[in-house]
Amino acid sequence: MAGKILITGATGTVGSAVGKALQSKGADFVAASREVQKVKEKFGSGVAAIAFDFADHSTYESATQGVDKVFLLGPPVDPGMDRLLTPFVHHLREKGINRVVYLSAFGVEEVKDSMPFHATLEKLLKDNGFAVTFLRPTFFAQNFGNYERDNIENRKVVYSPAGQGKAAFVDIKDVGEVAARVLLEPGHEGKVYTLTGPVAYSYGDVAGILSEVRGETIHYPAPSPEEYAQVLNSAGAPEFVAGYMNKVYGLIRDGHADYASPDVENLLGRRPGDLRSVLVKDLGKQA
Ligand SMILES: NC(=O)c1ccc[n+]([C@@H]2O[C@H](COP(=O)([O-])OP(=O)(O)OC[C@H]3O[C@@H](n4cnc5c(N)ncnc54)[C@H](OP(=O)(O)O)[C@@H]3O)[C@@H](O)[C@H]2O)c1
Repeated sequence: MAGKILITGATGTVGSAVGKALQSKGADFVAASREVQKVKEKFGSGVAAIAFDFADHSTYESATQGVDKVFLLGPPVDPGMDRLLTPFVHHLREKGINRVVYLSAFGVEEVKDSMPFHATLEKLLKDNGFAVTFLRPTFFAQNFGNYERDNIENRKVVYSPAGQGKAAFVDIKDVGEVAARVLLEPGHEGKVYTLTGPVAYSYGDVAGILSEVRGETIHYPAPSPEEYAQVLNSAGAPEFVAGYMNKVYGLIRDGHADYASPDVENLLGRRPGDLRSVLVKDLGKQA
């Protein structure tokens, strides 16, 4: 099913994996960013880039020029994400761009108040009759390299309020390949895919794997939500961040994320990437 694809969030962790997967298939796509130079740095100069900001409605028309399908992704740690993306969803409706792949999140149904903005956007897309596919990835394996690097390298800890719960961390490369596949093939409209890695690990397990791949002991102190909030607040994080993260990590802490889905394997015809390989690449001593 040919057609031009717009990738929102193209310079980020997920969007760049989607872009790279589409690039490897020779697909026709345009990568959106508030700073188009960042697109060139990610993908090289051969990729079409467009200036786009969900908050600036004057960028909508040029970003959707000639576009048939949209990979829709909102920025992280933004409890107002539904309000940010809603005007753009209305713009797509008005332009008659009907095919959308929306990057939602694992837990959107299991724990409704953990990320209410994803539930709101899923409902908005469904209620407006889009031919939509919801991708619901679990916690990314890349979170450790992206968000915990300083803790791991300098403090020798992984520090998340995840208790003793487990998650089957997903390799973002798999999310990118799944997104490319469902954007390019017919038959995925109206579907929901839960994207996980093959095995669920606790944060104690993660600390053990990191210790092996780094050749030094990495601890997991299992901070309580209160201890975690104190540390974040005293480090100067905005007030809402600890509350938000505690809710999200509650998915793991309370046992909801201890689940390995068959969807990546069914869609890609191979076993999903494992956490260890991502940790070796991102945080191994040779990384
Ligand atoms: N981390 C996890 O474990 C996890 C798990 C499941 C789901 N998710 C979901 O994944 C999403 C985050 O994806 P990510 O990790 O790829 O984020 P990311 O790496 O932080 O990238 C965010 C992207 O959003 C773009 N962006 C930010 N503000 C924008 C705006 N006002 N208008 C247009 N674009 C904007 C940025 O582009 P420019 O700066 O170039 O404009 C960037 O490309 C969130 O919706 C989160 O809920 C995360």
